[in-house]
Amino acid sequence: MVGKFLSQSCGGHDGVCDFCGPNVRTKIMRNIVAGNWKSNKLMSEALKWMEDMSPWMPNRGHVEVMVAPPTPYLAMMSSDAPKGLSVIAQNVSSEGSGAHTGEYTAEMLKSCGVSGAIVGHSERRARFGDTDALVAQKVRALVSEKLQAVFCCGETLDQREAGTAQTVVHDQLTTAILGLDASALPFVVVAYEPIWAIGTGKTASSEEAQAMHASIRGWMAETFGVEKASEVAILYGGSCKPSNAQELFSQQDINGGLIGGASLAPLDFQGVVEGHPASQQA
Ligand code: PGA
Repeated sequence: MVGKFLSQSCGGHDGVCDFCGPNVRTKIMRNIVAGNWKSNKLMSEALKWMEDMSPWMPNRGHVEVMVAPPTPYLAMMSSDAPKGLSVIAQNVSSEGSGAHTGEYTAEMLKSCGVSGAIVGHSERRARFGDTDALVAQKVRALVSEKLQAVFCCGETLDQREAGTAQTVVHDQLTTAILGLDASALPFVVVAYEPIWAIGTGKTASSEEAQAMHASIRGWMAETFGVEKASEVAILYGGSCKPSNAQELFSQQDINGGLIGGASLAPLDFQGVVEGHPASQQA
């Protein structure tokens, strides 16, 4: 798949940097826009959304389009999804099969045709007990089934104002991603979602977002090497919508987005995907 041409770097340097040396241009392999419906839509509305998306899907160019509907619709949506639409879950069990009432395993998701799951979303971390350790186990459960782990990280407003945003994000990466074998990286997608921007209408500026993405790419490069790091898609999430998608997705280390509110209406979601430079690639 043809991706956005990017400098393979730790921070968008035009010259020489510690990680990339002379500026070598390479291809980022993945461009992704993923919708996160959270707890929204009834079954009939989910079906209508897919029906409305279906004729538009050929317009996505070289963007991988994913949607994370509520759990009850996963199997149905996976089997009915139009070509090019990957259906992912919003969560997965950290455990294998067994006596774990209410949980569903990565293997079960796979058996339903589901392509992966979002893990570590700040709403789950804050309200449903998803600790760093649990999130790390969930990432492992997914990648061991060769499913996509859309791993969310991001700081609170207090942490940003205290100047600790980067440390917080690096710590989250360290807990969940550091111990992975490099062979698992094709199944890892990082979603940087500043908590203060989620559902608030307040978006990180493209400079703020790019700076954090570059720092995440740098962490990846230090941990797994430049080449592997350049292949991991790093998505931005937090009040991303058609009017700001292009500006955000044009940044060097922003490979797409994780979209909440603007993924609910097909036209908005399509507008976000169309903001991605890779959607223009034939
Ligand atoms: P938002 O949500 O786009 O509604 O801000 C993003 C997310 O929580 O993934």
